[in-house]
Amino acid sequence: MKSVTAVARPSLAFIKYWGKSPGGPANRPATPSLALTLEGITSTAEVCPSADGRDRVVLGGEEQPERRFAAFFDTLRAELKTDLRFAVTSANTFPTAAGLASSSSGFAALAAACATLARGQRPDDALLSRLARVGSGSACRAVYGGWTLWDAGAEAAQPLFEAGHWPELRVVLAAVHEGPKEHSSRDGMNSTAETSPFYPAWVADAPQLLNEARRALAARDLEAFGQAARKSYQRMFGTMLGADPPLIYWKPASLSLIRAAEDLRRQGLSVWETMDAGPQVKFLCTERDVPAVVEAIRQVLGPEGRWWVTQAGAGVEVRL
Ligand code: DP6
Repeated sequence: MKSVTAVARPSLAFIKYWGKSPGGPANRPATPSLALTLEGITSTAEVCPSADGRDRVVLGGEEQPERRFAAFFDTLRAELKTDLRFAVTSANTFPTAAGLASSSSGFAALAAACATLARGQRPDDALLSRLARVGSGSACRAVYGGWTLWDAGAEAAQPLFEAGHWPELRVVLAAVHEGPKEHSSRDGMNSTAETSPFYPAWVADAPQLLNEARRALAARDLEAFGQAARKSYQRMFGTMLGADPPLIYWKPASLSLIRAAEDLRRQGLSVWETMDAGPQVKFLCTERDVPAVVEAIRQVLGPEGRWWVTQAGAGVEVRL
């Protein structure tokens, strides 16, 4: 096999992973997360055997630091019992490292492409999920399409509902700021766990929020799901504000967008925002309310603002 290409879509969590279980294998979460794999924005990884015996990753035309990928490649070689070194060319159709979950789709695509190249055929999703997790925790969810659950302490995610489970649902991603974020999720969650006095409460509270969200998702109850999702992201940021030094990913426009979602709810629309380790705001609503959400985003971000309307998408695809 000369080369393998894989395409993956980002995993947007509504119940958040923020903090790692101490000890043991890399990136096992302290909190359970529940997420949706999105459609329409993608990461692609094209992999072939490396000619010079070194793993190389070029992302969006830029060679990446080896240390960011070392644990991932070493684990993959150990799991698949191979000596292969990989040369990867990767690209995203949306801003990288800006809080739009590019590491989830990036590592899901990378794991699928490298493991397929090493095996000569596509491994099962459970193994891909476990390998992707070593690169970036949230990537274990992006291996699967639709709704996914990644339990606290688990080494892989699991599929919960297929993409068609809630057909009228849409996610509108608003890009408040497209440059890379100041603190990676990894550094942010580690410093929160080490220094925030609120962190133990965040971890203790998370299973309850997961249950609320799971029940609402099964019943396709947007009001209840949105409320659980809002508590999850707000409490995640609450733990960050307690860190030393405090961690603030928001920009003024982020808060304006949160207020815009509140206004829409006051007008009777079921629109629920969430945020990740960056200033971008993501809105969950039904297809019917997308025009109102887009108009609200336009008002806050002005004519320069960018947004994407997405919905539930498929899991990682491998092209031989
Ligand atoms: C806020 O998966 O990027 O988006 O495992 O250290 O690579 P690492 O972190 P990462 O963290 C994602 C955090 C989040 C919430 C989520 O996606 O659940």
